[in-house]
Amino acid sequence: MCGIIGIVGNRPVAGRLIEGLKRLEYRGYDSAGIAVIQEIDGQSTLVRRRAKGKIVKLEERVKLEPVDGFLGIAHTRWATHGAVTKTNAHPHFAGQVGVVHNGIIENFTELRGALKDKRSFHTQTDTEVVAHMIDEAMRTGLSGQDAFAQTLKQLRGAFALGVVIDGVAGQIFAARKGPPLAIGIGDGENYIGSDAIALSSLSKQIIYLEEGDWAVLTDDNIQIYDAKDTEVKRDITHITGSMAAAEKGNYRHFMRKEIYEQPETTAHTLTHYIDAFNHKVKTEDALKLKGLDFKTVERVSFIACGTAAYAAMVAKYWFEQLAHLPTDMDVASEFRYRRPALTDNTLAMAVSQSGETADTLAALRYCKDHGLQTGVLVNVLSSTMAREADYVLPINAGPEIGVASTKAFTAQLTALLSLAITAGVQRGHIDTQAEKRLVDSLTHIPRHINETLKLDGQIENLAHMLSKAKSVFYLGRGVHYPLALEGALKLKEISYIHAEGYAAGELKHGPIALIEEGTPVIVIAPSDELFEKTISNLQEVATRGAKVVLITDNKGAKHAHNMVPHIIVCPDVSPVTAPIIYAITIQLLSYHTAVHLGTDVDQPRNLAKSVTVE
Ligand code: AGP
Repeated sequence: MCGIIGIVGNRPVAGRLIEGLKRLEYRGYDSAGIAVIQEIDGQSTLVRRRAKGKIVKLEERVKLEPVDGFLGIAHTRWATHGAVTKTNAHPHFAGQVGVVHNGIIENFTELRGALKDKRSFHTQTDTEVVAHMIDEAMRTGLSGQDAFAQTLKQLRGAFALGVVIDGVAGQIFAARKGPPLAIGIGDGENYIGSDAIALSSLSKQIIYLEEGDWAVLTDDNIQIYDAKDTEVKRDITHITGSMAAAEKGNYRHFMRKEIYEQPETTAHTLTHYIDAFNHKVKTEDALKLKGLDFKTVERVSFIACGTAAYAAMVAKYWFEQLAHLPTDMDVASEFRYRRPALTDNTLAMAVSQSGETADTLAALRYCKDHGLQTGVLVNVLSSTMAREADYVLPINAGPEIGVASTKAFTAQLTALLSLAITAGVQRGHIDTQAEKRLVDSLTHIPRHINETLKLDGQIENLAHMLSKAKSVFYLGRGVHYPLALEGALKLKEISYIHAEGYAAGELKHGPIALIEEGTPVIVIAPSDELFEKTISNLQEVATRGAKVVLITDNKGAKHAHNMVPHIIVCPDVSPVTAPIIYAITIQLLSYHTAVHLGTDVDQPRNLAKSVTVE
């Protein structure tokens, strides 16, 4: 994940910017850079140093060609648009403006097109477009602050920004729309950073920008504006105690923090699998998957446990629908004991956040022993599975601390959907137009997740009703059937309330006998081709007294508004990305129910983060 740090003060900043970047190394990156406004012979100049690779390379560059000043920004980059090169490393410059950025600007190609006759671009990054837009706005006579505010309104996506402008002395501009951004309060200086960890060597007094906020910092003043440009005051959090407190930031639990990281983490997952600039999925070479060509794969066999298994179950639908590739999904603890009839040209794909789950590892080894090609979709790249599989596919979700998997789940889904599209393209089932449409849907995921997080308050209210239940049902059809299973698992594992997920069409074959007055039933149903059938299943339980919560979109809500007491309306999204977006609602539902019941959300009883025993 990219990292941002900035300092505006009255003493040299370059060394402390680099120190701040070192505290961001845990987020993962592939290049780094700093930019400072330097006084040379009384003349201020915007200068930068950048380097591909680790921060030590940047330090060597700065030693070789020193830069310094009292105001600067710095960045660790996880390649999103454009290759891992020094040229594409942040900060990006245009005219007087320097920008560091975390996340995805979805509409950057249109914005770039609007400037192409006036500006010359040096990179393929979305970040550089932002620098040109601010600089262009200043050329029309706007102040730095107004140029920044105007530009923000034109950007679509999920992003965090830090900006310095030569000639606009002593000010740093910052904005948050999705990925987090914090402000640190200093003595005669102030700071911006991606999180409290980045700022921990500079300040313990942290202001967390809220969604849509932007800010102007000087050495002795901090002005924060909301999305409507109204000046606001935000709470100051005093970071006390261990680094863990800093890591949790202003979140009560790691699980909540990780739910809220998903706009940022899915953006980083996407970077590995798509080329947003050319609206294409990455294939073999770019995926560093020498030898994996889906044209030669005759079957995919997923093996996983728990939440990872439900992600793989969704992927089964995608691989068969988008790539016409026969696909199985087995829970790993069952797989090898059923003595599967393995066939040549089967790709065995393990899905595991930790890469250490004993059942999944044993199944992977079983496939390897039987001569299959093996892959692993994994979060921990140093794990045993990553070391033993033929192909390693990263999900780039960053460390997941909460035992209940959230950001890893949506990262797994995002990566699996990208892979299914890649398979479809390689097998000739997805043409260029369809590829562009599907890849554009993928780039909307971070923003759509960000919009869904705004349902938090409504979902918290519903959770209080759930917390009184002795049993809860989750229903879904198609790709939302595995989501129903995941929703039930999430609720069980952190609130200890019994819950079951069912294919909506299956309830009438027995389980409906359990429905009685007041039984909560969560129905996951966007207005897709299965909506009507799911609604009739909903009515079957409603007429028997169930207390139904419908999770749908605007069209679905209009259709069902007088059928159910509670409707959660998600953003209107493509049917293909809906499971990723709707996952946010079931995560928040289980989180708030557990908090209401006072269970140990991050370390629920009887559970371990990685089950390394069979
Ligand atoms: C998810 O919330 C659970 N903690 C658990 O089901 C987990 O998904 C499962 O143990 C698999 O772990 P892995 O992804 O690390 O292999």
